[in-house]
Amino acid sequence: MVVGAQFGDEGKGKIVDFLAEKVDMVVRYNGGSNAGHTVKVGNKVFKFHLIPSGAVRGKKVVCSGGMVINPQELIEEIRFLERRGIEPDLVVSLRAHVTLPYHPVFDRASEKRKGEEKIGTTGKGIGPTYSDKMKRVEAIRIEDLVSNKFKEKISKVLEAKKKWLIEYGAIKDKNEIEKYKNVILNEYTNYGEKLKKYVGDDSLIINEALDQGKKVLFEGAQGTLLDVDHGTYPYVTSSNAVAGGACTGAGVGPNKIKRIIGVAKAYTTRVGRGPFPTELKEETGDLIREKGGEYGTTTGRPRRCGWLDILILNYAKRVNGLTELALTKLDVLSGITPLKICVAYNLNGKKLKNFPVSTELVEKCKPKYVELEGWSDLGREEWREIAKKGYDALPQEAKNYVEEIERRVNLPIKIISVGPGREETIEIKKELKSKREGI
Ligand code: IMP
Repeated sequence: MVVGAQFGDEGKGKIVDFLAEKVDMVVRYNGGSNAGHTVKVGNKVFKFHLIPSGAVRGKKVVCSGGMVINPQELIEEIRFLERRGIEPDLVVSLRAHVTLPYHPVFDRASEKRKGEEKIGTTGKGIGPTYSDKMKRVEAIRIEDLVSNKFKEKISKVLEAKKKWLIEYGAIKDKNEIEKYKNVILNEYTNYGEKLKKYVGDDSLIINEALDQGKKVLFEGAQGTLLDVDHGTYPYVTSSNAVAGGACTGAGVGPNKIKRIIGVAKAYTTRVGRGPFPTELKEETGDLIREKGGEYGTTTGRPRRCGWLDILILNYAKRVNGLTELALTKLDVLSGITPLKICVAYNLNGKKLKNFPVSTELVEKCKPKYVELEGWSDLGREEWREIAKKGYDALPQEAKNYVEEIERRVNLPIKIISVGPGREETIEIKKELKSKREGI
């Protein structure tokens, strides 16, 4: 399983693509089109919002029941792949919930109402779709979308939502409801028809594959600190991004999961609002943003940038049961010296070693850093050369940085990414020599 160890955008898409070579199936387990997973193959760049990144490798890919799916965007993604010569071997769970046109309207309107208190959502309607799911009325699942009962169901839902549709500005007044209903009916019946050939029982398909000894890779969206239960609530997304989300989302037992890879960027970024103790609001933050191209894949928003935070990685290790780490974007830190790693928080004079539960407290935490010497700027070719030769070819300071993280998180780092391409990846077969004694 691949799970985000920070605030999302850790580079999971690239790691999934890298690992997908050796698996039979890739399953996305949470979220919706709020996610943006980028995969670069040669000169081609693939940006996925819904379909698991493994599609590029031609693997069987599953959108599990834990997801919320905007059918229009899903069909666009299928077409996008088809135009590039890839016919996705896709399964869409019958249990997944459908994002309808009013969900993004509610999302944006509710953010506007909150004003300064807003979450900073992607505006894709994720929260409202999951809210409808949890309320257990007024929700549409993929099984409804593809059935001949869709008309009846959606009519009831729209009738029940009439007041909200007007209040949130999806329609002007109640006279518009019929027109609105017909537009949705026509469009979504058409989407249902197009998606019919992909739908299935994800849990059954995945478990049968596991029983036959096939290898399945689970792909998480967002990250640990955006998880609805374990993140910096309420500045979170509405799904379970943590490892457990794969079990509930895809209908697999926890005992089936053998390797849980936490993907961490070599620094930290966050998009949207919420606490971020190591955020750099000055020029080093700007430098990292520019060097790392830290702009949202889904919204284009500039990402907030800061130093690596060990408390976050240790927290991710705990709540996900991580068995190893994959470190991404190490190349971005070249030319920056000294480099800082946060190893503790200071909260009103008290030293904290664990990430606090309360978001209010996290906001008050001041990071305590260790400093490490950086390494000089290297060109793309030099990084490719290093990746070809392996871990030992890294500049000594870069190795010190990696080994400092290993030691402090006490987990093996098995993959290091030094660029967006597949060939810019270092796989570490043997454990590093950093003697992970912990601290
Ligand atoms: P929502 O998921 O659109 O409701 O947004 C809730 C929070 O999660 C906001 O801070 C978003 O910026 C953040 N978020 C959602 N999806 C992603 C993602 O894929 N990467 C990074 N941040 C995300």
